[in-house]
Amino acid sequence: MCGIIAYSGGRIAESILIDGLKRLEYRGYDSAGLAVARRKKMTVVRAVGKVSDLEKKLARRKLAGHYGMAHTRWATHGRPSEQNAHPHGDCQGKISIVHNGIIENYQDLKEELIAQKHVFTSQTDSEVVAHLVEEYFDGDLETAVLKTVQRLQGTFGLAVMHADIDRQIVMVKRGSPIIIGIGENEYFAASDAMALLPYTEKIISLNDDEMAVLNAGGYYIKNLNNELLEREIEICAGRDYLADKKGYEHFMLKEIFEQPEAIENAFRGRLVEAEGVSKLGGLEPVLERLKNMKKLIIVSCGTSYYAGLLGRYIFENLTALHVEVEVASEFRYRKLKMNEDTVVLALSQSGETADTIAAIREAKRKGALILGVVNVVGSAIAQITAAGVYNHAGPEFGVASTKIYTSQLVILTLIALLIGRYQDVSYNEGSEVIQAIKKLPKQVEKILADMEHVRALAQAYAPFEDFLFIGRLFNYPTAMEGALKLKEISYIHAEGYAAGEMKHGPISLIDENFPTVAIVSQDCTFDKMLSNIQEIKARNGRVLSVASQGCGRVRDVCDDVIWVPETLPLLQPILNIVPLQLFAYFIARERGCDIDKPRNLAKSVTVE
Ligand code: G6P
Repeated sequence: MCGIIAYSGGRIAESILIDGLKRLEYRGYDSAGLAVARRKKMTVVRAVGKVSDLEKKLARRKLAGHYGMAHTRWATHGRPSEQNAHPHGDCQGKISIVHNGIIENYQDLKEELIAQKHVFTSQTDSEVVAHLVEEYFDGDLETAVLKTVQRLQGTFGLAVMHADIDRQIVMVKRGSPIIIGIGENEYFAASDAMALLPYTEKIISLNDDEMAVLNAGGYYIKNLNNELLEREIEICAGRDYLADKKGYEHFMLKEIFEQPEAIENAFRGRLVEAEGVSKLGGLEPVLERLKNMKKLIIVSCGTSYYAGLLGRYIFENLTALHVEVEVASEFRYRKLKMNEDTVVLALSQSGETADTIAAIREAKRKGALILGVVNVVGSAIAQITAAGVYNHAGPEFGVASTKIYTSQLVILTLIALLIGRYQDVSYNEGSEVIQAIKKLPKQVEKILADMEHVRALAQAYAPFEDFLFIGRLFNYPTAMEGALKLKEISYIHAEGYAAGEMKHGPISLIDENFPTVAIVSQDCTFDKMLSNIQEIKARNGRVLSVASQGCGRVRDVCDDVIWVPETLPLLQPILNIVPLQLFAYFIARERGCDIDKPRNLAKSVTVE
């Protein structure tokens, strides 16, 4: 969602800010803006649409200032418009602020400020911050910001600057990430380290309720009691992953093709073949508690939620645990029974998703052990959880998650195997899972090598406006994830259903204009899936099947088939989703959609 970049130093700020905004684009946004100050004058330029629209506006003017801030906004309070875009300012045009998060008490503050004759120009919650700083400003910006944040309820990652204080930028964090970048006599700040990596690897991630002050001659970090803090500089090892499509047309396609490597990274060094078990260093501190757990609740959102649904089947297969899966936004309001025997496992690519954070905070309060499977190292969820496992899949930029999903499934299998080996899973069964996991990267490569076949099918199916995706058992969550991929990036209506539920509703929609994607594996559900497909064919529905190679009879009943290699049923979803990712990708491309940045969607959903 929203992104922040700020700069103070010897270079012209504008180009650094624009470059930073481009690196934040993948998070999703609908307007952008920047503020640069020079010779006690603040210039603010904002535009609805893309960063390129902002650049067009900037082309008409020259901003020579050496400090400034910029923002990409994903609308929450107030529609996407120039007035609502950040940076926001005070009444005198001296102060600029950019804000990520939500100011929950903004209405009260706004009324108070209007009574004090402040004039508001936007419908946003964020604008109150600029006016509060103005109210408290007495020549010292730092103190004004400290006083301001004492009035704020909610979450914020904030940057504040004043036209009269050369090269000073004040950053504050509560619940929304702020990373400080330290260069040679120049300082950066951003909501996402990705925006800083071209300039510096030296970073400090602010903790909640910390403030950083960037100045011409240096920087310092304080807590909100105005006490100086000693913070160590971290080296952010991610430069190899700088947002570069490496020749692919879209990040999504690149990330689909990175799956063999991402899967390998998920299990590398984590398989103990001699004992038929997995070894997860990040879980060792809590191993005793894991051995004694009775109940597992998986919480997550979006694609991570569908990985969680599959996690339930995987854990049921390999362990004796009672497993529940909850959408994080529901979890926190439910009255779920939890105690020290309960483990709550958060799945999150970004480690920033607001609902998932709120859910695990709630579970922590109830005494459950909180674990995380997170891709972004050091992210909020990684910090809140007691223990966990990193995906090590490299950054994912495409809004539609692909490589993290398959990586999550591998890691869930490893965790289930670890626990299952203390329970009923034998050495032989454990070894069988390990051998099958090791084959996955090559099997995914084989599917990717068949891309042209999927592209041709996507061209044929692109004109349809509705799709049904069906599967049973392990293929049921796969059907939901396949449908999600298609709707996210192509804006086609698609529903994922348990094939057995088809006769309880969706079958009424079937005709020659409503195709079905059926996911079929050689398991106990095979014959029932064939019957469902025949029921669809009997109603003139067109059927495309994703089938594993042992399912030869599928050919006789479907219009089209995409064949995938066969593996153990519990790992089959890792293979079955890959052609569905490609199918969604090529349909979206055929329809001319903005694949990496689909409308209204964000990569990291940082509001509840
Ligand atoms: C957004 C993204 C999805 C992602 C979901 C959960 O909706 O567009 O791709 O699956 O958030 O994100 P997380 O980072 O928690 O996995």
